[in-house]
Amino acid sequence: MAEAQARQRGGKAKDVSVAALAEIGLRFEVDGEIATITLDRPEKRNAQTFATWSALGRIGESLPEQVRVVVVKGEGPSFSAGIDLRMFTPEGVPGQGSFSSAARSGGADFEQRIRQAQAGFLWLRRPEIVSIAAVQGHAIGAGFQLALACDLRIVADDVKFCMKEPALGLVPDLTGTKPLVELVGLAKAIDICLTARIVHADEAMRIGLAELVVAGGDLEQAVQDRIAQLLAVNRDAAVATKRLLQGARSRTLEEQSVAEGIEQAARIKALFG
Ligand code: CAA
Repeated sequence: MAEAQARQRGGKAKDVSVAALAEIGLRFEVDGEIATITLDRPEKRNAQTFATWSALGRIGESLPEQVRVVVVKGEGPSFSAGIDLRMFTPEGVPGQGSFSSAARSGGADFEQRIRQAQAGFLWLRRPEIVSIAAVQGHAIGAGFQLALACDLRIVADDVKFCMKEPALGLVPDLTGTKPLVELVGLAKAIDICLTARIVHADEAMRIGLAELVVAGGDLEQAVQDRIAQLLAVNRDAAVATKRLLQGARSRTLEEQSVAEGIEQAARIKALFG
């Protein structure tokens, strides 16, 4: 569906039209069970704004139900250089203000804006989909966090992850801290964030930030191959298994075993009942 005027689940239309997204520097395409979100402002290294994040939220709300895999990628040499640096200037981003204007408007308002921005990232974890970040070049700050919001990261060998926020006096606030700690452990997450150093492909692979590293020219094909494997699995079993895996960390072994039994009984009923 090239003209992605998808319908929100509740029935109300959300504006994820090609034109509305293009204005923000995003593309959204749905092809059967696969949706692709492309950060499409390569001349600004796919820098992100509050408009990017609310558009991501709208895409999440209106995602067609048949979609099983969501690919998030960036056009050009870099996945994303993070937040648009104009936010740090007094002028800010036209129509979206600046950090100075946010500071003047009061803490509660800004917290609310952050919650809205986070909604653009959180839906990528839904059990009904598997999200894949295809990452090349720089993934800095909000770019790194967008990659972390996805279930899987397939990266080019020139990838450079960097959690730059602390170096700028900020914290990573776009839902990235929890997946980072869960993927690499607390000590490594502290090391990465509090030094704001670059994590290259070999380290990303070694510490569990990336599932696969490929040569830059092979990134698209590698993503397609992984999608084919994901789509070959029974859909309902995939959803139930992702639900189980996501809950595993917060449950005891006993609770997790009970949850497995409940999901399996439902599967057996659906398959053989
Ligand atoms: N915001 C706005 N514009 C950006 C940008 C950003 N984050 N990053 C790059 N650009 C622009 C540059 O200004 C330049 O524009 P012009 O051609 O008009 O001058 C263009 O993109 C190309 O940039 P470079 O020439 O620097 O490209 P490069 O490939 O040599 O370098 C880069 C790429 C290393 C990513 C470098 O551009 C860079 O360091 N960018 C800034 C990264 C950054 O500090 N981001 C903030 C992260 S913190 C965060 O994201 C906070 C949060 O979530 C709250």
